[in-house]
Amino acid sequence: MKKTYQIGVIPGDGTGPEVVSEGIKVLNAVGEKSEIRFDYHHYDLGGDRYLKTGDTLPASALDELSEQDAIFLGAIGHPDVKPGILETGLLLSMRFSLDLYISLRPVKLYPGVDTPLKNKTAADIDFDVVRENTEGLYAGTGGFLKKGTPDEVAVQESVNTRKGVERCIRYAFEHCRKFGRRKKLTLCGKTNVLTYAFDLWERTFNEVGDEYPDIEKDYAHVDAICMWMVKNPEWFDVIVTDNMFGDIITDLGAMIQGGMGIAAGGNINPEGTAMFEPIGGSAPKYTGQDVINPVAAIMAGQMMLNHLGESEAAGWIEKAVMTTIKDDMASMDAGRMGMGTSEVGDYVVTHIRDD
Ligand code: IPM
Ligand code: MN
Repeated sequence: MKKTYQIGVIPGDGTGPEVVSEGIKVLNAVGEKSEIRFDYHHYDLGGDRYLKTGDTLPASALDELSEQDAIFLGAIGHPDVKPGILETGLLLSMRFSLDLYISLRPVKLYPGVDTPLKNKTAADIDFDVVRENTEGLYAGTGGFLKKGTPDEVAVQESVNTRKGVERCIRYAFEHCRKFGRRKKLTLCGKTNVLTYAFDLWERTFNEVGDEYPDIEKDYAHVDAICMWMVKNPEWFDVIVTDNMFGDIITDLGAMIQGGMGIAAGGNINPEGTAMFEPIGGSAPKYTGQDVINPVAAIMAGQMMLNHLGESEAAGWIEKAVMTTIKDDMASMDAGRMGMGTSEVGDYVVTHIRDD
C-alpha cells in the first residue's frame, strides 16, 4: 500500500541546507525502492530570515509544522545573530511548543569509524540516551535581583514536574524493552547534591520501574557517567536523564561515536509530531564548500523512518551508511572524507539501490 508522509523541512543555517539535501536524496532513494512517498514542505526559518524580518518562528509556521508527520531540521546558528536568539526563539521554542518532550540520541560506533577511545570497538559503544527535552534548567525560569550592582543575584531554576519526569522515564523503559540490547536502563542523576530534583527523578524511576520487572535498573551520578562513557562504554544500554545532563553527556557521546559528523538525534512527542536533526550545529566555517559530513543528517532521516514505523526502510539506510563508512569514506571529519558532501549522499544512494 502506498503511504505518503508529510515532512516539514527546515534546512536552517550554515551547512544545514547542504546536509538536508543529502538526507532528502537518500529518503527519495528509499521511496524508489518501496511504496513510501514523502511530500516535503520547506520552511525558511533560521538566521537569514531573522536578520531580514526579525521573526524566528511565526505562529502560522508553528501551526503548520505541528500538522506534519515529522520535521527534518538541518542546523540552527548564524554568525551574525547574537547567541541565544535563534536557540531560544526557534529550536527551544519548537521543542516546547510542540511538546517534543523526548530527545533520543543514539551513541553507536560503526565499524570503520575512528573513536578516540583506545581499545574500544563497535562492540563496545552502542547505547541510547533518552534526554528529557522540555523542563529542567531549560525551562527558562529564574531572574536577576539588583542587576548590575555589586549585590547582583542571578537565579536559574531547574523545573522538574512529576508528569514531565514520569513520561520521560516511562518512554525510556518502553524504549529499552523494545530496542535495548541488554534490557538495562541507567538513570543518570546527581542525587547526592540535587537533593530535590533527583529525589523526584529517583522515586519516579523506582516506582515506574516496578512495572518493568524485565528491565535491569541501574543508577549513576552524572560525573561518574562521564567517566564510564570513556572507560567502560560497554556497560550502557539505555541512559535516561534530565535536560541539562542529557545535553552534556550527548556531546561526549557524539565524540566517542566518531564526532559531530555522524551523531543524529530525534526530538519526539510520542503522541504527536517529532523533529529529527544532525546534532552537530551549523558549522559556518565549512558552509558552501562541499566538505561537511552529511552522514548525521542521513541518519536523522533513518531515525525519522524508524519513528514513522518504517523500520525496514530505516534498515536499508543504516546498512547503506555502514557500507559507505566502511568502504568508501576516508574519515568522518569535515574536509577529510576523501570526497565531497554530495558524493557521500551518492554513495549511500548507490548502496541502497544495489542492496
Ligand atoms: C543541543 C544543543 C541545544 C541544547 C542548544 C543549541 C540550545 O546544544 O541540541 O544539544 O542545548 O539543547
Ligand atoms: Mn547540545
